[in-house]
Amino acid sequence: MSENSASFEARLRHNAAAVEACLVDLLGDHTQPDEIARPEPLLAAMRHGLLNGGKRLRPFLVMESAALLGGDPGAALRISAALECVHSYSLVHDDLPAMDDDDLRRGQPTVHIAHGEANAILAGDSLLTLAFDIIAAPETRLPDRQKTELVLALARASGLGGMAGGQALDLAAEGSTLDEPGITRLQAMKTGALIRFACEAGAIIAGSAEAERQLMRQYGEKIGLAFQLADDLLDLTADAETMGKATGKDAARGKGTLVALHGADWAASRLEQLVADAETLLSPFDDRAAILIEAGRFIANRRS
Ligand code: IPE
Ligand code: IPE
Ligand code: MG
Ligand code: MG
Ligand code: MG
Repeated sequence: MSENSASFEARLRHNAAAVEACLVDLLGDHTQPDEIARPEPLLAAMRHGLLNGGKRLRPFLVMESAALLGGDPGAALRISAALECVHSYSLVHDDLPAMDDDDLRRGQPTVHIAHGEANAILAGDSLLTLAFDIIAAPETRLPDRQKTELVLALARASGLGGMAGGQALDLAAEGSTLDEPGITRLQAMKTGALIRFACEAGAIIAGSAEAERQLMRQYGEKIGLAFQLADDLLDLTADAETMGKATGKDAARGKGTLVALHGADWAASRLEQLVADAETLLSPFDDRAAILIEAGRFIANRRS
């Protein structure tokens, strides 16, 4: 492991611990103002879906993008927690029998296996809502204008034209033959949109100029596509124990992936290209972007 990747992984762990503590706090037993009660079975299912490990890569991208651009670290932590709620909800629902029908996630039984389908659906609903609660709440110390921009950007990234829309395309594509632009669009939506949001959020939190915001968006788009490409390659090459989730399932279900369309070698070289493009985009920041450049390399080379 190179010195850079060792320090990247230490930073990833450090940031993950910070967001983990924030998430534990958000899912405490006590009601918040205007909440009537926190039903225990639902709270338990939410904790299972949110606090069960995970690389916390999206929070890392929010925090480090904000740090690069001079955003407030406390606000970045809260926004990163909000994004992890949306991501975790997407996984809880992705695993449901009506979707990918998976039993293992982050090395544990999936939420519907452990808590039942109804609680898994409601845990996803409540995690999604909690994300917007976190952004709007007074504990997130940002001007209202920035909060509104974050709400809008996260809503667009998560819903019909983003993650949820991409999941619909993913399911519709099972067993069909999507071409390369079709698969790329599907993946830009189901996975890319939340990763793009992570990077753009850093610029919103920092109140950056439009040019910097666009640059972070483009960087997020590249590494978002890279992330799903790596996930699809790992589905083919890695084992369930390392991944903490079943593998080999994309081919079994006839998922529309670039690995299925063009083969693993093509996908690996496309992955390298995407990460190189992402690095080029960050070149105006010189050494200050070193940690985000490492993040791109981590995405491409990760083993789990
Ligand atoms: C898995 O995301 C789902 C995809 C979008 C491919 P991650 O690999 O980031 O999952 P966790 O959060 O680390 O479990
Ligand atoms: C999941 O893609 C994307 C979202 C959850 C939005 P996958 O279905 O490939 O993710 P894994 O492999 O189950 O983690
Ligand atoms: Mg899926
Ligand atoms: Mg899945
Ligand atoms: Mg996958």
